Amino acid sequence: METTALETHDTRAIKEARTTHAVLPLIRQRWSARAFSDRPITEEELHTVFEAASWAPSAMNEQPWRYRYALRGTPWFAALWECLLPGNQPWAQNAGALVVCSGLVLLHKHNQPNHSWQHDVGMANANLLTQAVSMGIYGHLMGGFDHAKANSALSIDTTTEELVCFLALGHLGDPGGLPEPFLTREITPRTRRPLPETVTAL
Ligand SMILES: Cc1cc2nc3c(=O)[nH]c(=O)nc-3n(C[C@H](O)[C@H](O)[C@H](O)COP(=O)(O)O)c2cc1C
Repeated sequence: METTALETHDTRAIKEARTTHAVLPLIRQRWSARAFSDRPITEEELHTVFEAASWAPSAMNEQPWRYRYALRGTPWFAALWECLLPGNQPWAQNAGALVVCSGLVLLHKHNQPNHSWQHDVGMANANLLTQAVSMGIYGHLMGGFDHAKANSALSIDTTTEELVCFLALGHLGDPGGLPEPFLTREITPRTRRPLPETVTAL
């Protein structure tokens, strides 16, 4: 009898988006992974994904995104990991790097509010994640962190900058090593609501 991707934990096959239209392979192949291997992430790899992020569009080219990162095994990695909520800590501890994604809330020129800053951080993150997949690196964004703890650990001046999310980055590992409920989540196919519920032709 043939074994299925679910039985063999072939997460690349399980997680690839089943699309109706000819969506780019890199977009289909990205997912929010939780099973990371102990293969380290290099500074070169990290700077490549950050540079990809930096080429995202932004309102008035303000580039409000900011990134701080720590490699696994460093004191800062432990400090960032401490800021994560319990639902993220068990699997994020195996990431090759933890990244803090933030944005500048004021416009550079006039110190007025930048109403697009969160949008633009998201644009940059999308670029980052797509570039990462092309390099065999998977990312998992996390809004589940203790904002007060992270602001304090990173000495964030919240009048000018706000933390948006954390990001775990790593090479894929065996999901079999994950505790539940994370194992099940890692071997469950991804879903999206039908396109007509999102898109309206006028
Ligand atoms: C801003 C943001 C915050 C998120 N926070 C968390 C989180 O704290 N923990 C988690 O496991 N996943 C988190 N996710 C991942 C989403 O749950 C995931 O993107 C969504 O379920 C779709 O799955 P996919 O990315 O594998 O397609 C977050 C995603 C985004 C964009």
